[in-house]
Amino acid sequence: MIKYYQNYTKLARRYTNQLSSLSDISRPTFEVTKDLLGKTFVRRHPHPQPRGTLRPQKLPLLRPAIVLLLLGWAYFLYNNLTFNPSPEMIPRDVIAQQIPHVLTGTNFTNLGTRYEGKVRDNYTQGQRRILITSDRLSAFDRIIANIPFKGQVLNAMTQFWFENTKDICPNYIESYPDPQVIVGKECKPIMVEMIVRGYITGSTSTSAWTVYAKGGRNIGGNVLPEGLKKNQRLPMPIITPTSKAAHGDHDANLTPAQILEQGLLTAEQWEKLSSYALMLYARGVEVAARQGVILVDTKYEFGFTPEGEIVVIDEIHTPDSSRFWIAATYEERLAQGQEPQNINKEFLRLWLADHGYTGEGEIPAIPKEIICETTEKYIQAYEMITGKTFEAQPGDVLSRIEKNLTLYFI
Ligand SMILES: Nc1ncnc2c1ncn2[C@@H]1O[C@H](COP(=O)(O)OP(=O)(O)O)[C@@H](O)[C@H]1O
Ligand SMILES: [Mg+2]
Repeated sequence: MIKYYQNYTKLARRYTNQLSSLSDISRPTFEVTKDLLGKTFVRRHPHPQPRGTLRPQKLPLLRPAIVLLLLGWAYFLYNNLTFNPSPEMIPRDVIAQQIPHVLTGTNFTNLGTRYEGKVRDNYTQGQRRILITSDRLSAFDRIIANIPFKGQVLNAMTQFWFENTKDICPNYIESYPDPQVIVGKECKPIMVEMIVRGYITGSTSTSAWTVYAKGGRNIGGNVLPEGLKKNQRLPMPIITPTSKAAHGDHDANLTPAQILEQGLLTAEQWEKLSSYALMLYARGVEVAARQGVILVDTKYEFGFTPEGEIVVIDEIHTPDSSRFWIAATYEERLAQGQEPQNINKEFLRLWLADHGYTGEGEIPAIPKEIICETTEKYIQAYEMITGKTFEAQPGDVLSRIEKNLTLYFI
C-alpha cells in the first residue's frame, strides 16, 4: 500500500513538471497537495504558476505517524488473535483435534521407580519425585475418560496456587519442566488427608450435609450448631480429616482423637497440620473471592521432606481436589432453595448419571461433544479461578514431555 502511495505521488509530481515545462502560459498548471490525513491530491491551479512551485509539505510527521499506527494495530491483532486465545477463542475443533493426542499415561523405563496414581504418573529418583499429570479423569473412584488439555489445566492451576501460598506454607515443588510435569522433593506422605470445609454440603452418603440432615451434629470432631440449611456457610471453616487410603481403597473419616490414638500424628504435628490447612484455605478463599468464586471445600495432603520438614504435597485448590461455586448467584439461589452454580468436574459425572451410570457396570460411550465440553469446563474453571488466560499447547503431549524431561532420564 505504501509503495503504491509513493508511486502515485511520484507520478503526480512528474505530471505537474511536464505540464509546466511546456511553459505555455495559457495552459493550466497543477499542484500536488495533501489533506490532513496525508492523502495526496493533484489539483488544477486557478492561476498559472511558474515551473516547480510545489507547495511545501505541511505536517511532515503525519506519514510516519500513520505507518507507526498501522504497525501498532497489526502487532495488537497478531498478539491478541494468534497467541493468547481467550476461552471463546479455543475453538471446538482444536479441542476435538487434540483427542487423539491426549495423555492416557506414560511408561518411561529410565525415569525412576514408577507409581501410577489415578491422575498422575509418579517417578521417584532418590530424593526427587517427578509427577506427570495425565489427561485421565477419575470419578466414582475409576478412570472415566481422557479429556484433552485437562493435565495442562490441572498443572497450571497447581502452579498458580503453590506460587500464591508458598509464603504461608512450604511446599515440595522444585520446578515445572513441562506444562504437564512437576519436579519436587520426594516426601514421606502423612497418612491423613486434611479436608477443610467452609460450607455444609454434599450428596454422597458420607458427606457432611447427609450426616447433618440425618441429625448428626458432630462432623469429624466439630460440633455444628442447629438449624443449618443445605449449602449454608459455616460459622467458621472446619477440618474433617480422613485416612489416606492405600491404592484403590476408599478414604475413611477420622476424628482428631482417633488420629492421635492410632499414632498417625503427634499432638504437635496435628496442630501444625491444622493451622497450615486453615491458613491455606483462608488464602484460597481470599484469592478466589477476588475472581467472584467461592472456594467451598478442599483437600490437602502433607508430607515430610528428606530433611524432616512438614510441607504440603500433591496438588492444591484444583477442580479435582476442591469444590467451587459462583459467588454472584450464591445468596439468591440459597434463599430460593436452589443448588449453587458449580465450577468443577461434576459436568461429566452428571452426564453419566443422566445416562444411568453411577459407578457400577460398564461406562456408557461418551460422545465427542461431551468430551470437548468437559475440556471447556476445565479451561473455564482455570480462567475464572485464576483470572488468567489459558494457553493451550496442542499437539503430541507424550513426545513433548519426553523432550522436556531429557535432563531427568537416568
Ligand atoms: N512430594 C511428594 N512426595 C511423595 N508423594 C507425593 C508427593 N506429591 C504427591 N504425592 C503422591 O503422589 C500421588 C499423586 O498421584 P495421584 O494421581 O494424585 O494419585 P492418587 O490416585 O494416589 O491420588 C498421590 O498418591 C500423592 O499422595
Ligand atoms: Mg490424587
